Amino acid sequence: MSTILITGANRGLGLELTKVFAGLQWRVIACCREPEQAALLKAWAGDAAVTVHRLDVGDDQQVSALAEQLAGTPIDILFNNAGVYGPERQGFDELTVDDWLETFRINTIAPLRLAAAFVESVAASQRRIIASMGSVMGSIAENSSGGHYAYRTSKAALHMVMKGLSVDLAPRGITAVAFHPGWVRTRMGGDAAPLQPEESAAGLTEVLLGLTPSQSGLLLDYLGNVRPW
Ligand SMILES: NC(=O)c1ccc[n+]([C@@H]2O[C@H](COP(=O)([O-])OP(=O)(O)OC[C@H]3O[C@@H](n4cnc5c(N)ncnc54)[C@H](OP(=O)(O)O)[C@@H]3O)[C@@H](O)[C@H]2O)c1
Repeated sequence: MSTILITGANRGLGLELTKVFAGLQWRVIACCREPEQAALLKAWAGDAAVTVHRLDVGDDQQVSALAEQLAGTPIDILFNNAGVYGPERQGFDELTVDDWLETFRINTIAPLRLAAAFVESVAASQRRIIASMGSVMGSIAENSSGGHYAYRTSKAALHMVMKGLSVDLAPRGITAVAFHPGWVRTRMGGDAAPLQPEESAAGLTEVLLGLTPSQSGLLLDYLGNVRPW
């Protein structure tokens, strides 16, 4: 049985990915900050293949404790999905240092921290994939509207993290990619977003399952297109 670990699995894209992989008979290690309040996720945990784990990705002790608990369990896909938009107002003259750092802590630093904590479990698996939810909002080439400084810079830096991992972990046969899920109707994406989470998660899953080592280090969208950095 293949295994995927998903962060931020209680709602939005993380919940949708959990449903898709559970439906494919994968074992899903579904992580979220507040399992007690994750009613939608817990409904899926009735399925024996889905286990729910407490994980605030910004809490180093929780990351270490979960990695220790799961040591010896091969993880085919580590999916860093959890992310934040950051403060509401992100104009060039509106950000506070603390708000910016907090956005980086969750969107950029936590995925690298998780990769380091779970690298042995991923290396011991069949597929050996580390994926992180980036965004074209973090693409320097595709930035034509400015603003969103905390979010854009944290995702641009996350893309660099994934590129770095693709180089550092290639000798261990690990493929590392960043994904753009499309503009998706979630709490973060908002009501105006054209894509339903189901459509994005289905596309992401297809791309993930067809991933080859030659794609390591790329920013891929949910349709499998390479997007520019
Ligand atoms: N929606 C879009 O259009 C879009 C586009 C590009 C990229 N993305 C990326 O896709 C990913 C998923 O976003 P979404 O659209 O599904 O948004 P969402 O509905 O707002 O979900 C965000 C998820 O991240 C979790 N999270 C936030 N901080 C966390 C922390 N410190 N520890 C653990 N979990 C944490 C949230 O958990 P809580 O419920 O505990 O807050 C929630 O499960 C994000 O990385 C986002 O940047 C989304």
